[in-house]
Amino acid sequence: SVLEMEVEQINKGNYEHYMQKEIHEQPESLKTTMRGRLIRGGSCKAKTVLLGGLKDHFKTIRRSRRIVFIGCGTSYNAALAARPILEELSGVPVTMEIASDLLDRQGPIYREDTAVFVSQSGETADTLQALEYALENGALCVGITNTVGSAIARHTHCGVHINAGAEIGVASTKAYTSQIVVMAMLALAIGGDTISSQTRREAIIDGLFDLPNKVREVLNLDQEMKDLAKLLIAEQSLLVFGRGYNYATALEGALKVKEVALMHSEGILAGEMKHGPLALVDENLPIIVIATRDSCFSKQQSVIQQLHARKGRVIVMCSKGEAVSVCPGGLGRVIEVPHVEDCLQPVINVVPLQLLAYHLTVLRGYNVDQPRNLAKSVTTQ
Ligand code: G6P
Repeated sequence: SVLEMEVEQINKGNYEHYMQKEIHEQPESLKTTMRGRLIRGGSCKAKTVLLGGLKDHFKTIRRSRRIVFIGCGTSYNAALAARPILEELSGVPVTMEIASDLLDRQGPIYREDTAVFVSQSGETADTLQALEYALENGALCVGITNTVGSAIARHTHCGVHINAGAEIGVASTKAYTSQIVVMAMLALAIGGDTISSQTRREAIIDGLFDLPNKVREVLNLDQEMKDLAKLLIAEQSLLVFGRGYNYATALEGALKVKEVALMHSEGILAGEMKHGPLALVDENLPIIVIATRDSCFSKQQSVIQQLHARKGRVIVMCSKGEAVSVCPGGLGRVIEVPHVEDCLQPVINVVPLQLLAYHLTVLRGYNVDQPRNLAKSVTTQ
């Protein structure tokens, strides 16, 4: 009806689509996610993280023999992005499960496990069923959801709300970045407060405080991503290479492109390049390589060189000011993003890829907010 259309227009504010609004809203949604949870005390007071919903369970989580992340789609990717920092700070092994696959295998889950269920809607059928399975097997079940009162929020033993605000676009954007931030805070909360980890912890907490500003900065790439989308509009396929903290970014960037732009896209673990993907490389197939500054940087530099040696059509995402070190001789295109603490870099790096997927979709004339064949929450198996 006309009324419904008007209400929709009001909800979208100055934006044409919900996905666009939700991408641009991320500086604010991240602030809301962190509000009241990050404490930066006075000069002698340590910086800490407060996650009220978990406080009675931290001991159990620290003592568990492993932490298992369980989710689907974008929520799985968010957990994958947070895995390295959780392992680093907690020392507990972290394993990953796609909910349907865990159910298909009836994979082992033990009483000594902490199972963390990540779901924007809190209603995804596979994730919910995996939760029932983990409960039967006696694991401590933690929920990370965006929907207060959702099935997953109600059935888990404890949890954290990501507080990103309602997400309407079928393709998840702001929930993804808020999920990563919540799981980084979880890592800080579970991790021991040892002297040796103090500097690292403080750097992450400072990085979290500054993250909304850095996201605002990376959103300035909007026009640049639109220009890139124009170049890629007629492509059949797009590869995204990442590793380490940004393996998840590669998967998530590719997922956005296929979900909304209806273009084949694949996120590839760069360490696996020689085990197959290299065969696809030619002068036509566009490949985005994520090579922002972290401990994997020199390995990514060598990946870029090898792609150039095979005449690959390479687009490099690098830290601001580093175009020269990733593109010797000015080969290929670069996307320069602000540099943040390594474990938070996935929050920054996904934004240009969200923008790219958005613009590709609009330019190709597809429905951004309700892509063909997809649903916001998959409540049937
Ligand atoms: C659907 C949505 C995705 C989402 C996935 C998992 O596929 O379109 O955006 O990532 O479900 O949903 P959840 O609500 O469990 O995070």
